[in-house]
Amino acid sequence: MFSYRHAFHAGNHADVLKHTALLCILQHLTAKETPLSVVDTHAGAGLYRLDGDFAQTSNESEEGVLRLFASQPAPRAAAIQTYMAALRHYNPGMADGGKLRIYPGSPVLAQHLLRAQDKLHLFELQPADMRALRGNTEQLQANSRQVQVYHEDGFAGALRLLPPPSRRGLLLCDPSYELKSDYAQVHAFIGAALKKFATGVYVVWYPIIPRPEAHELPRKLKALARQAGKSWLNASVTVKSSAKSGIQLPGEKVKRPGMAASGIFIINPPYPLKGALQSALPELSRALGQDHLAGFKLENGEASSQRP
Ligand SMILES: C[S@@+](CC[C@H](N)C(=O)[O-])C[C@H]1O[C@@H](n2cnc3c(N)ncnc32)[C@H](O)[C@@H]1O
Repeated sequence: MFSYRHAFHAGNHADVLKHTALLCILQHLTAKETPLSVVDTHAGAGLYRLDGDFAQTSNESEEGVLRLFASQPAPRAAAIQTYMAALRHYNPGMADGGKLRIYPGSPVLAQHLLRAQDKLHLFELQPADMRALRGNTEQLQANSRQVQVYHEDGFAGALRLLPPPSRRGLLLCDPSYELKSDYAQVHAFIGAALKKFATGVYVVWYPIIPRPEAHELPRKLKALARQAGKSWLNASVTVKSSAKSGIQLPGEKVKRPGMAASGIFIINPPYPLKGALQSALPELSRALGQDHLAGFKLENGEASSQRP
């Protein structure tokens, strides 16, 4: 069932977009003293080696984070600089000219910004990734009660935690979409979560691939946000015209086309996020773009008090 392993994809262009936005949101949310709960429904292993066998099978980081670090002129947008600074933190050798070898996933990046009063809840189903996640977060965390790792379905488990005690929370929903049913599950999950915790900040990553369910997901999320009267942002980055070559990863039955674009949909985005993405997206698409179809999109909807 679980052929997807994020280690094959760590640091790809989708991770760059998702993690740049995630850190930017967390920076704003942690500016207020009130405790924050972060829930990662699909956490992955937490830390990845870019020079390990997994990452080197597909070399996706070369089209992602490594390309970003090599880009000239270096990106200036604050959100990208925060992201790059976080990666340097986990790669101290870079200060002496060393390479980026370790890629921190969403659990570790979140942990990087959280304060003593905050909580991090991590869900992961794949047994080996879950064990790695436990090890990686235990190694990094200062306060053992701050981070909880659950070996269970993130869609079901996360709903149990809503609303968080302080009524301040960020929820990242980042499935692999390995199963076609993931698209419908994300939609149902966000609908149910908004009912339990209407003021939460929701971040959903989605692939932009030629599949009807993938096209429809952002449209359906917009409808959910509108129905709930909530503001939203939808940001995407395209790095190349289309899948130029495919790769078959160990354990996977089908050849996986190289993904050309992906997006993030955010409900209840913190106010400064739109401006931060307006500065960051052109630079991301310039740094990561491979051909004339590279580009970005940013659309948004305002909150309204009217419900249909
Ligand atoms: C795209 S990866 C997560 C990457 C991670 N959020 C990051 O940004 O570093 C998706 C992960 O979800 C896990 N997974 C798949 N189905 C799941 C489920 N129902 N609940 C929790 N985790 C699941 C997979 O094993 C995989 O590790």
